[in-house]
Amino acid sequence: MPNVVFVVPFAMDASLRFVRAAAALPNVRLAVVTQEPPERFPDDLRAALAGHATVDDAMQSDQIVAAVRQLLGALGGRVDRMIGILEPLQVPLAEARVALGLPGASVDVALNFRDKARMKTLLRQHGLPCAKHCLAARAEDALAFAERVGFPLVVKPPAGAGARNTFRVNSRAELDDALRTMPPRPEKPVLFEEFIQGEEYSFDTVTLGGRHVFHSISRYAPAPLDVLQNPWIQWAVYLPRSIDDPKFGAILDAGPRALDVLGMHVGLTHMEWFRRPDGSIAISEVAARPPGAQFTTLLSYAHDYDFYQGWARLMIHEQFTPPRRKYSAGAAYVRAQGNGARIVGVRGLAEIQRELGELVVESKLPREGQAPTGTYEGEGYIVVRHPETRVVEEALRRIVETIRVDLG
Ligand SMILES: Nc1ncnc2c1ncn2[C@@H]1O[C@H](COP(=O)(O)OP(=O)(O)O)[C@@H](O)[C@H]1O
Ligand SMILES: [Mg+2]
Repeated sequence: MPNVVFVVPFAMDASLRFVRAAAALPNVRLAVVTQEPPERFPDDLRAALAGHATVDDAMQSDQIVAAVRQLLGALGGRVDRMIGILEPLQVPLAEARVALGLPGASVDVALNFRDKARMKTLLRQHGLPCAKHCLAARAEDALAFAERVGFPLVVKPPAGAGARNTFRVNSRAELDDALRTMPPRPEKPVLFEEFIQGEEYSFDTVTLGGRHVFHSISRYAPAPLDVLQNPWIQWAVYLPRSIDDPKFGAILDAGPRALDVLGMHVGLTHMEWFRRPDGSIAISEVAARPPGAQFTTLLSYAHDYDFYQGWARLMIHEQFTPPRRKYSAGAAYVRAQGNGARIVGVRGLAEIQRELGELVVESKLPREGQAPTGTYEGEGYIVVRHPETRVVEEALRRIVETIRVDLG
């Protein structure tokens, strides 16, 4: 029976779905390392766990290692696997695995996925398409880069997430502003990239023993950066039913090669990429973990297959049987708008329920009194599914134009 440690810094719903799936696997003994006290975990899940170790900072590999040693008693004296889904955890997890002699991605491989400048350098060295970039250690580096590639540019932290502190820069004046708000320093460099015009997509995969055995494509409507720049836009994402389309040929070729270059061996990955109006593509970034923002849920609905459990089995038993896509699935992310610090109401729900109720398979709706998250994922989501992509696209369009989450 494998003894498994799940490092889950926070008991967030999205994370607990993965923990639950791992705990539910037959013949697996699971313990958690977390920053949360036991009572933050639902009773049924707590009952399914063999151990719980609390740390001050789960992103510190030495704290993870010490916590795992504490859990040895509860795990029959031996740990076989250590897993975790959070993006910033991937490097500390790899470091802790080395210290404990556990299998999994090496620190070098984890860094290939975490450090966006290193990732782009590697991809370009291997002839894979991506935006020109510059990891600026000082303002002059950024100015020289702007001189070379022109505007617009994108400025972002080299290991960011959720498009936080990520901006489009359209002119020299805006670049000067960006350099004032996020001044690049040798000890805190800032990433500048050529702005890629086009549609944004994801390419999500499963890799087993270095072979890429499953892939999915989803379309972002619109790009997360556009959502953040325009407070009235509610984001949506959908998985087309068929991805067997010549317009996806370039990513179906480049995506798996990029994973080889970055050193992907076992796990789910989430790649973001752009398709320019002329059909050419640019890989944007790749994460060596299950996708966030309900994408794992969307994958599950589109394939009638539990990807949470699929991921857990893959990481613990190294088994995966690729499912077939049976539906198109999509999510609309409803977002608080207006002036005020709290949500005072949600309009349009009854209308959507009447019109689209049959397509809705899951939802999480904002509650009155809730504070806005300020992210492109907004305050809640509605997931729809149908065998026809057109129906899903239209449903998402109706949801985002009908539902209004009011601040007051
Ligand atoms: N080079 C680029 N060209 C155009 N848009 C970009 C570029 N880089 C990032 N973006 C936009 O910013 C968003 C966030 O950037 P990303 O690199 O994906 O960081 P994060 O890790 O925060 O998701 C992307 O989803 C995309 O919409
Ligand atoms: Mg991203």
